[in-house]
Amino acid sequence: PKKAVEGPLVGAVVQGTDCSRFLVFNSKTAELLTYYQVELTPEFPKEGWVEQDPKEILQSVYECIERTCEKLDKLNIDVSNIKAIGVTNQRETTIVWDKLTGEPLCNAVVWLDLRTQATVENLSKKIPGNNNFVKSKTGLPLSTYFSAVKLRWMLDNVRKVQKAVEDGRALFGTIDSWLIWSLTGGASGGVHCTDVTNASRTMLFNIHSLEWDKELCDFFDIPMDILPKVGSSSEIYGQMKTGSLEGVPISGCLGDQSAALVGQMCFQEGQAKNTYGTGCFLLCNTGRNCMFSEHGLLTTVAYKLGRDKPVIYALEGSVAIAGAAVRWLKDNLGILETPEEIEILAKEAGTSYGCYFIPAFSGLYAPYWEPSARGIICGLTQFTNKCHIAFAALEAICFQTREILDAMIHDSGISFSHLQVDGRMTNNKVLMQLQADILHIPVVKPRIAETTALGAAMAAGAAEGVGVWSLEPDGLSAIVMERFEPQIKATESETRYATWKRAVMKSMGWVT
Ligand code: G3P
Repeated sequence: PKKAVEGPLVGAVVQGTDCSRFLVFNSKTAELLTYYQVELTPEFPKEGWVEQDPKEILQSVYECIERTCEKLDKLNIDVSNIKAIGVTNQRETTIVWDKLTGEPLCNAVVWLDLRTQATVENLSKKIPGNNNFVKSKTGLPLSTYFSAVKLRWMLDNVRKVQKAVEDGRALFGTIDSWLIWSLTGGASGGVHCTDVTNASRTMLFNIHSLEWDKELCDFFDIPMDILPKVGSSSEIYGQMKTGSLEGVPISGCLGDQSAALVGQMCFQEGQAKNTYGTGCFLLCNTGRNCMFSEHGLLTTVAYKLGRDKPVIYALEGSVAIAGAAVRWLKDNLGILETPEEIEILAKEAGTSYGCYFIPAFSGLYAPYWEPSARGIICGLTQFTNKCHIAFAALEAICFQTREILDAMIHDSGISFSHLQVDGRMTNNKVLMQLQADILHIPVVKPRIAETTALGAAMAAGAAEGVGVWSLEPDGLSAIVMERFEPQIKATESETRYATWKRAVMKSMGWVT
């Protein structure tokens, strides 16, 4: 007989830049029961290009779901206890597919990709009215980062995409749309939808009216009939069409950074979290107040947990390269065998010995938004070794976080007493200690680091018609904290931070 579980279960698909996962939570205790993950390697076909195969992404998600169900079975837990599924994903990454065949029409153009630099430059010359045309509607600067320019590039350069649009067969989506459409039946009846958080990263979505914006679509010359229907982050979008979870509703959908904010229970205005993944993303809940930044932060939709629930906004500091710098040290320089080894090397060094590493591989995002920047390692001496460089790479992640936290403080006037963190890299204790030292405030980590998945599961379980997860603040009891206190003098962190800023200046203007 199958083991009785305490409460209904909720699954979460987490589709990130370098990994797909499926995790199952108990909705009554927020306990993670089991999960399965498949690592993915983005393709770098040309300098500055970053692509992924949409079918490989989809396949990896199916594999994660099926393997997780097998693991539940081994735990004697009946998979029919899974009452809902949430989807959370890397944002901005752009896919166009054929709705009749279900075939993607080219590889996904990943958020980090820089091929649209010329497109951005041309568009910025023809901005109507004032320079704030895009930002005032979307909360975003005109940048290679967001979907509209990636889609523009496909429409200009991929014949198959042009033809499918002409023939009325093309559908556009970010990863969430592609997955939900495919999982709910694909070419035989799949639901073409997205949620307000993912839509708010496309540069086509008006974050005030919560609708696709005709003026923006005209500006980017995007046909509106290829865009998905936009829903809230918590409602039933459709049902799983096949596999072990056939018939289970998909009822949560959020971009990964929004999901982490929910999973960290940052429901109050002024609460913030920082997630360390491929990049690093600090989001601060600004409530119903759609606050605009004067210090290089984005305004974004944080979540809308139900059709009739209010939209909540966030200020976001986005750093393009965090974990990706570790991957680069491993794959390109070969100084690490595994990403985890960076902690051992950095600990051995205990200092960067004056070496600074600016990982501006995709230019610099917040707070600079400087596409001309490129990576540099400086301050090298005869004495510098790979351990110092490993330390400098971790320190770079912490300095970048300090820059966006400083911008957040200037914009919001909030003085943060601590920083809530999550993401895979928070297992690295050297990184966490360094972060506390450089911010000079405590860094607080939930014991369950899976906050992104938890947020998606919460949204799915709380949806109308599912109702197995209560979003009341008593959920906070599920989070057990680990704290890292600053251990160096404030004057020392200020000196190091000032040197970092000097190094950042040297990384700018490399691409002319
Ligand atoms: O905006 C990009 C972000 O959503 C990617 O997240 O987890 O792949 O670093 P991640």
